[in-house]
Amino acid sequence: MLEIKDLHVNYGAIKALKGINLTVKEKSIVTLIGANGAGKTTLLRTISSILKPASGLIHFNGEVINELPPNKVVEKGISQSPEGRMIFSNLTVKENLEMGAYTRKDKHNLKDDLEFIYTFFPRIKERLKQLGGTLSGGEQQMLAISRALMSKPKLLLLDEPSLGIAPILVKQIFEQIVELNKKTGITILLVEQNANIALSVADYGYVMETGHIILEGDAGSLAKNENVRKAYLGE
Ligand SMILES: Nc1ncnc2c1ncn2[C@@H]1O[C@H](COP(=O)(O)OP(=O)(O)OP(=O)(O)O)[C@@H](O)[C@H]1O
Ligand SMILES: [Mg+2]
Repeated sequence: MLEIKDLHVNYGAIKALKGINLTVKEKSIVTLIGANGAGKTTLLRTISSILKPASGLIHFNGEVINELPPNKVVEKGISQSPEGRMIFSNLTVKENLEMGAYTRKDKHNLKDDLEFIYTFFPRIKERLKQLGGTLSGGEQQMLAISRALMSKPKLLLLDEPSLGIAPILVKQIFEQIVELNKKTGITILLVEQNANIALSVADYGYVMETGHIILEGDAGSLAKNENVRKAYLGE
């Protein structure tokens, strides 16, 4: 579904991505793990076309998408839940959700889509009139994912859904992510620093270090890999 070939991305003189190759198969959950500053967010923002590569190609369903503007990438079926959530503090929860559907042409189905989202995140339904900025951290994360779902993506990019959230809620959010994937077949590219939980839900994983992919494999075998365990699982 997604195929990235020899992708290079720079911030001025800083080389953030140095030849990334990565594939995501339809209906799978793929995780990208790595330390602070490895380039994970940069990669997601480049897939979303917010950043433009210096060289390399991003194919989505056979089509090169890295020349498209970000709103066209959303229309093609890719949606991102950004790091740090980035919800609109001064808009209500309902308005935040509606913002997620702004590129959609078939807006008549929005009501059904909202109902569908509430089945995964019932907490969101209870808070529709509340201002986004007054939600708890975990609720904001659920809202950010819900908002990304409002564009009806085929590929959902999640940037550190566990960030700043209590372990019990992290478990809950990840259970919802897995259920979403199982029930709807939505494909997920999951960026995480919490390698433990990411590898436990993913089918396949990539390990990134300073702009390079240094290791890839089935999530199960990566979780057993000694170097991964030492570097990312705190053993
Ligand atoms: N706007 C920017 N200008 C210059 N350098 C940047 C910019 N954004 C990111 N970088 C640099 O690019 C590198 C990769 O950053 P990125 O945010 O992609 O890392 P990350 O893997 O997402 O890290 P984290 O786990 O901390 O979120 C870092 O060295 C970072 O300082
Ligand atoms: Mg990041």
